[in-house]
Amino acid sequence: MHHSITILTGAGISAESGISTFRDPGGIWTQYDIEDVATPEAFARNPALVHDFYNTRRDQVRSARPNAAHEALARLQKSYSAPVHIITQNVDDLHEKGGAVDVIHMHGSYQTALCAACGSRWPAPPAMRHDDPCPSCAAPATRPDVVWFGEMPYHMDQIDEILSTTSLFVSIGTSGAVYPAAGFHRLARAAGAATLELNLEPSEITAMFDEARHGPATQLVPAWVATLLAE
Ligand code: OAD
Repeated sequence: MHHSITILTGAGISAESGISTFRDPGGIWTQYDIEDVATPEAFARNPALVHDFYNTRRDQVRSARPNAAHEALARLQKSYSAPVHIITQNVDDLHEKGGAVDVIHMHGSYQTALCAACGSRWPAPPAMRHDDPCPSCAAPATRPDVVWFGEMPYHMDQIDEILSTTSLFVSIGTSGAVYPAAGFHRLARAAGAATLELNLEPSEITAMFDEARHGPATQLVPAWVATLLAE
């Protein structure tokens, strides 16, 4: 009997699609200060700078292609005999471009804009500006639909429910530096799940997993999926 699998992904799964990670050498947080571009205070202080940062990143992601790891997870989701939940910290849409469905974007998405005044969402224009009027309430309060440091990640009730009932928790391409995602393995394990890490190198929390495999996601993930689908 097969039980559900829950997968948490981070920037490492999109690295081989040409999208920078955050904390690797040359990563985004080695070039920018989080306090300048990724907090509510930064946005209040200088919305144009924050929009510039996200507009540039959104533009880079637009032309990126999913890689073999994204595609393998979509295959698993389609063919496995039990539910496969994909929770991502990534704001890119490469899981969806690779064929995955119902991806839970806990840190938001580049695909949508969010009205800071009324909370409505709409498709992100190529370049977003703070004073773009909200299509619902007309307030000039447009912000990226991403979760900043100091804000609550999205879909946490749904995620808690999934983690409390899953049989296998797999962390892919994430450094384990940012909570609450960095604590998901603990919640899953407390509820009885086995835990597996697939990452380029040992993460900050490798020792907490039942098993860890290290290497590029485009190799590790398809190999792991092939084994599961052959069982
Ligand atoms: P990080 O940049 O912190 O970590 C990326 C991880 O991916 C590292 O452990 C790398 O070793 C690994 N990695 C790099 N290339 C890889 C490859 N080709 N195959 C497999 N693994 C690879 O990114 P995240 O853990 O996703 O949040 O960061 C978590 C959050 O911090 C992000 O969602 C973002 C950031 O600040 C917000 O902006 C709210």
